[in-house]
Amino acid sequence: MDALFREKRQKIDDFDFGKNTAEVFDDMLDRSVPFYAEVQRMIGEMAADFAVPGTNLYDLGCSTCTTFLQIDKLLPPDVTFIGVDSSAPMLDKARAKLAQAGFTRQHDLVCSDLNENMSVTNASVVILNLTLQFVRPLKRTPVMREIAKGVREGGCLLLVEKVLSPNSTANRLFIKYYYEFKKRQGYSELEIAQKREALENVLIPYHADENRQLMLDSGFSACDVFFRWYNFCGFIAIK
Ligand SMILES: C[S@@+](CC[C@H](N)C(=O)[O-])C[C@H]1O[C@@H](n2cnc3c(N)ncnc32)[C@H](O)[C@@H]1O
Repeated sequence: MDALFREKRQKIDDFDFGKNTAEVFDDMLDRSVPFYAEVQRMIGEMAADFAVPGTNLYDLGCSTCTTFLQIDKLLPPDVTFIGVDSSAPMLDKARAKLAQAGFTRQHDLVCSDLNENMSVTNASVVILNLTLQFVRPLKRTPVMREIAKGVREGGCLLLVEKVLSPNSTANRLFIKYYYEFKKRQGYSELEIAQKREALENVLIPYHADENRQLMLDSGFSACDVFFRWYNFCGFIAIK
């Protein structure tokens, strides 16, 4: 169970995706991301309609491979899954979960930092679920261009991000409603406040419009919103 921020800390270090986080990560996401299971289901539903036999499906920031396990049964067998994450402990967890589930599909798990190294080829589907927000803003354009270059005509990008609202009142309220959600999920005010501080320099959200423009400017021809809950937004971009 995620109790990473339960005890009072003297000093709040930047949030990281190391071993301690990986240990409790699935519980953290279930309890911290509104409609996490439904968004995973929607990603699977859309991926199934865009995946093409003989191509690759990428999950950039795949963490513990919850998404691969969710969509495996929906896709044809000759689609190769490629998961990328900069956290070795996350990928260790992912390997253990895939093994336990008896996952047999052809796949590759790559430990790589999207800020430094980025390659997408022959992709019919690319998933970025709550990961672009952790990529340095200056690197987001090259990352998005590389994704768009590696997606085949008619393929898609499924992007889910925390977003800022351009309106300061809406922004303040959306954040308040999000913290109310976290309280309903069993997190204390101290846990919420300490995690917020830890994420401050690490999770840098864009406005929904900035994300949309980034995808269109990088080579996708259409972009739509498939999910919105206050400051969480899911986009589908088609090449
Ligand atoms: C919020 S989690 C993603 C959740 C996951 N996509 C899911 O659906 O369960 C963000 C992930 O991105 C990874 N990450 C953060 N920055 C990264 C970077 N620069 N390059 C690669 N992976 C990164 C983290 O290690 C973490 O596993």
